[in-house]
Amino acid sequence: MAILTDRPSTVFAAQTVYEHLSFTPKDTVCGNLVLVNRQHPIKNDPPSHDLIDINNQQHDLLVPHQGSFVNLLSHLAHPVEEVPLQKQAATMLFSLIKKSGSAGTLTAVSGYRSYQEQLTVWNETVSKEGASFAEKYVAYPGCSEHQTGLAIDLAGTAPSIDYICPDLPRIGAISTFCRLAPQFGFILRYPEGKEEVTQIGYEPWHFRYVGFPHSIIMTDRKMVLEEYLEMLETETSPLKPFTYTQDGAHIDIIHLSMKNRQTVDIDFSDVLPHTISGTNKSGIVITRFRRR
Ligand code: DAL
Ligand code: ZN
Repeated sequence: MAILTDRPSTVFAAQTVYEHLSFTPKDTVCGNLVLVNRQHPIKNDPPSHDLIDINNQQHDLLVPHQGSFVNLLSHLAHPVEEVPLQKQAATMLFSLIKKSGSAGTLTAVSGYRSYQEQLTVWNETVSKEGASFAEKYVAYPGCSEHQTGLAIDLAGTAPSIDYICPDLPRIGAISTFCRLAPQFGFILRYPEGKEEVTQIGYEPWHFRYVGFPHSIIMTDRKMVLEEYLEMLETETSPLKPFTYTQDGAHIDIIHLSMKNRQTVDIDFSDVLPHTISGTNKSGIVITRFRRR
């Protein structure tokens, strides 16, 4: 649109627009990439308004595109009917269920668990199955990524479901679901062969939302979250991003350390869409999406 004025026309010098980002230690403890394990207890609970019960509130995610309510998950034949999940993770989970054609074949067993709920799960498992079984399949209270709202345990459909080790048969649409999961931001968090690193047994039922493209990079490189964050910490910096390329778009991933710092400021010479996540180990990961 041209604006007419009676003033002489001005020639504007090309301007560089800078993006300024500023971080404090509280930014390191939240976000899709937080690492929660024995060495890194959770420091920040998700706000309750960011959680949704995926068994009973699926329609809330469809607003403003309200239509007929379709329950994509089968309900549990189990006393625990409420399965809360962080909203973005829930939205991506439903997209993944639709894309993989697995609606009705999956049961949501467990999502967000509070510290108190994890303590109950821990105590009950120790008393029923013994401490070494509990150590293998249940995280210590305060050290479970279920407490982030970003983890979900899934089973197939069956009249009775094991709450600690649910059976997720990798057949038909469920196998498609597992194959497509990384494209929708999910990783299999406790894969076989990585027990030494994760300190948790193989859990084919436990998916963790970390967001795109981190989920694809981790899956392609067979890295668990511990290894991926270590790689970003040691190999990237604002001047040396890790670049992931897909369909001609480039995504720069940068780790910033907040160790012994109260603030960190960073200026980029361009403004780009980006996401930010803490690592829960004194770091921040910036993910910047660019076309060239
Ligand atoms: N089953 C996983 C390790 C948890 O309890 O968080
Ligand atoms: Zn789990």
